[in-house]
Amino acid sequence: MGVFDFSGKTAVVTGAARGIGKEIALQLADCGADVWIADVLEDVTKQAAEEVAGKGVKTGYSITDVSDLASVEKMLDEATAFAPSGQIDILVHCAGIIVSGSLFDATPEQVRRITDVNVMGMFNVLTYGTKRMVKNNGGGRVVLIDSVAGRHGFRVQGHYNATKAAGLNYAQSVAVEVARFGVNVNAVCPGIIRTQMWDRILEDAEKNLGVTQDEEWNKYMEEIPQGRAQTVEDVAGAVLFFCSELSSAVTGQALNVDGGRYLN
Ligand SMILES: NC(=O)c1ccc[n+]([C@@H]2O[C@H](COP(=O)([O-])OP(=O)(O)OC[C@H]3O[C@@H](n4cnc5c(N)ncnc54)[C@H](O)[C@@H]3O)[C@@H](O)[C@H]2O)c1
Repeated sequence: MGVFDFSGKTAVVTGAARGIGKEIALQLADCGADVWIADVLEDVTKQAAEEVAGKGVKTGYSITDVSDLASVEKMLDEATAFAPSGQIDILVHCAGIIVSGSLFDATPEQVRRITDVNVMGMFNVLTYGTKRMVKNNGGGRVVLIDSVAGRHGFRVQGHYNATKAAGLNYAQSVAVEVARFGVNVNAVCPGIIRTQMWDRILEDAEKNLGVTQDEEWNKYMEEIPQGRAQTVEDVAGAVLFFCSELSSAVTGQALNVDGGRYLN
C-alpha cells in the first residue's frame, strides 16, 4: 500500500502511457485507486494499463487525443462507466508535447500542434473533467502537470513555455470557479526529468547549438541547487499530496518540483 489510502476512488490520468504520467498512474494504484489511463499511443497505453493492473486495482484505458474534444468526452464517458461509484474522483492531466530549439526554427505546423495539444488539450481536459466533477458526491481533485517553463521564459522552446504559462493561469481560474463544489485544482511544475521529452531537447541542442548532449545536460544540472535532476517519483509524490486529504484547503496553487531552481 502507498503512503495514502485512495481505495474506493477512481483516478483518470492523461498522458500515462509512459514517463511522468505512467509513474503517477502506478503510484495512485499503489494507494489503492482504480486507474483509467488516457493516451494517444496505442500499444504503449495498453502495456501501461497492464502494468498498473499488476498493482491489484481495476484499470482500463482509452486511446485519446486530448486536443480533440470529442475524443476527450468519449474518454470521460468510458472512465465514468468504469468507475464503481459512477464518478471520477481524481483527474491528473499530464499529456503534453514539446517543440524544442530556437523559436525561430519552429514551423507553423509545429506551433499549431503544440497549441492544440498543450493548450486546447488542457482546456478540454480541465474544463470538461471538472464539469463532471462538480456533480460528484464529495467533490474531487484535479492536478495539472505543468512546468517551471510556465513561470518564466527560457532561451529555447519558447512556444512550449508559453503553452505552459497558459496552463498555470487557466488552472487558477478553474480552481476559483469550482471551489464551492469541493473540487480542488492545483498544478505541479516539474523541473528536469530525463524522460523521452528530454531526449528530444538534448538531440535538438546537439544538432542546433553545436554542443554534445552531455555538455547541454550538465549545464542544466549546474543550475539546480540540489545538484541533480528530478525523477518521475519526485513528481508523483507532489501529485499524491494534492490528491490527499492533507491538501484539502489547498486550491489554485502551483508547486515547483525542481530541486530549488526557481523560488516561486
Ligand atoms: N520531462 C520533464 O523534464 C518535464 C518537465 C516539466 C514538465 N513536464 C511535463 O510533464 C508531462 C509529461 O511529460 P514526460 O516528460 O513524461 O514526457 P513523455 O513524452 O514521456 O510523455 C508524454 C505523454 O503524453 C502523451 N501525449 C502526447 N500527446 C498527446 C495527445 N495529443 N493526447 C494524449 N496523450 C498525448 C504521450 O503519448 C506520452 O505518453 C508533459 O506535460 C510535460 O510538459 C515534463
